[in-house]
Amino acid sequence: MKVISIVGARPQLVKLAAVAAAFAQTEHQHVIVHTGQHYDADLSDVFFSGLGIPDPDVHLGVGSGSHGVQTGSVLSALDPVLDAEQPDWVLVYGDTNSTIAGALSAVKQHLPVAHLEAGLRSFNRRMPEEHNRVLTDHCADLLLAPTEEAMRHLANEGLAERSELAGDVMVDICLRIRDAVLAGEHPAPALPEGIDPTQPFLLATLHRPDNTDDPERLSAIIGALAALPVPVALLAHPRLIARAQQHGIELAQGSVHVGRPLPYAGLVAAVLASSGVVTDSGGLQKEAYLLDRVCTTVRPETEWVETLEDGWNHLVPDPHTMAPADWSALATRPAPEAPHGAPYGDGTAAQRVVKLMEQAMRRA
Ligand code: UD1
Repeated sequence: MKVISIVGARPQLVKLAAVAAAFAQTEHQHVIVHTGQHYDADLSDVFFSGLGIPDPDVHLGVGSGSHGVQTGSVLSALDPVLDAEQPDWVLVYGDTNSTIAGALSAVKQHLPVAHLEAGLRSFNRRMPEEHNRVLTDHCADLLLAPTEEAMRHLANEGLAERSELAGDVMVDICLRIRDAVLAGEHPAPALPEGIDPTQPFLLATLHRPDNTDDPERLSAIIGALAALPVPVALLAHPRLIARAQQHGIELAQGSVHVGRPLPYAGLVAAVLASSGVVTDSGGLQKEAYLLDRVCTTVRPETEWVETLEDGWNHLVPDPHTMAPADWSALATRPAPEAPHGAPYGDGTAAQRVVKLMEQAMRRA
């Protein structure tokens, strides 16, 4: 079986690490195409080196742009690559512009498409990711769902026959790296200056356009973090830095200490060292949950609804209107006493993904 993985953005590289390791234990040919959607070393190269992912076989180098330009550039650059490779499967990941472009290029060439992380829904049509994931699910041939909830969404949309419960491949990597960090196999993470990892601190990230692009909302969120009674390590995505500069908002104020995005092992170590997480990232909500840290999510909804149970994760739909005392009580709340379940699987999802692709190919 010949499989082409199409990736481009940071969270896809984490999932690719699990999938590439599973394919490496088989006779199958696994070709990696990097679209170049993310190109900064912090967002791309350090994931390949840090997670032991083989270098991409093809790099499209598309870079940034408006949604149309970025999606269109991946689409036109991919056509000749897929045409030349003629894989048995094109595997696309998650919900980025690289995902929908990869799926479209493949289906238009009658190449079978498998969608990893199928069936997630926010039901928020302002999110570009929601359109990317719905459209990808509806054109793909094999839908690899991470959770029972995702399976239900796919069934509701008439896609049950193409859907399989694979589990979440991010768990595979997160637990593997957690064990390595706890065994002392990774150096201490480069936390922002002023953060003492032996004292309580919160770890924060923000990158969603709905939070970064509206100056009033961004200013309210940064102001709330600045007023917290514990230091906040804000790992700043390039979009956040660019928008804050554009809006004239100082990120490093009050309790907020600004640093760069971390490589994956550094991020896992930072979550483990922290007393909690504040974020709008889907991946980090789940990493906090898997690593038993409370998470405060600055969004009106989450695709990862399982994390909300027992208050492990808590949503802040409208950060403008929350009083500083409420922010403080929420972000510094203790972890629930009862341990949570394992709705995302047991850390062996990538092997299941390979098996499901083998089975679906035999059926075709
Ligand atoms: C993308 C995904 C989002 C995912 C996120 C993870 C889409 C629509 N969005 O959002 O689902 O959660 O990746 O990080 O696909 N930039 C750099 N260097 C880079 C990459 C980007 O400076 O290496 C800057 C550019 O100014 C760019 C902006 O960040 O315009 C946004 O990058 P883009 O890839 O468009 O979207 P993300 O916000 O990263």
